[in-house]
Amino acid sequence: MRQLSLKGRTYPTDLNPGGTAFGGWVMAKMDKAASIAVDDIIKSPAVTVTVSRINFLKPIHNGDIFTIYTEITAIGTSSITIYVSVEVKNVETNEQYEVTSAEFKFVAINAEGKPVNVRSVLRDQIDEDTQALL
Ligand SMILES: CC(C)(COP(=O)(O)OP(=O)(O)OC[C@H]1O[C@@H](n2cnc3c(N)ncnc32)[C@H](O)[C@@H]1OP(=O)(O)O)[C@@H](O)C(=O)NCCC(=O)NCCS
Repeated sequence: MRQLSLKGRTYPTDLNPGGTAFGGWVMAKMDKAASIAVDDIIKSPAVTVTVSRINFLKPIHNGDIFTIYTEITAIGTSSITIYVSVEVKNVETNEQYEVTSAEFKFVAINAEGKPVNVRSVLRDQIDEDTQALL
């Protein structure tokens, strides 16, 4: 299920010398959004293991309000894959469009930092779409 995981605004300290949002800053926001989506379904901590297919489709400008949507697309033994999409709203037209997308993979871990089976740390209530991936 696609869900809104993070929302915010771009400020001057988030920009690259060209005046648009710095890619690493965008990735950090996406990582946080993905971790929130993971937290929604499991009780244990989880760490990012890979980030793939990152696409900076359009620039994000100073003052833009961004919304980050997440969707869990796969669940392995200890891993959870999340599609992350950043969208920006054009304040004049009210049109919202995708600016960046990527696939994040998280691994559920125990207190020793070792992978654990996702099914052993699931929250009591998870949405039907995620349930179908198990
Ligand atoms: C993530 C981590 C716990 C995995 O430990 P590991 O001993 O390599 O674990 P495994 O080899 O059993 O792999 C665990 C899962 O990750 C997946 N994985 C590991 N490396 C991968 C890679 N390079 N690409 C894709 N998947 C990978 C495995 O396929 C496996 O998935 P599955 O259980 O669903 O089948 C360990 O590599 C680690 O601590 N990395 C640092 C994480 C970190 O600091 N992230 C940044 C801050 S959050």
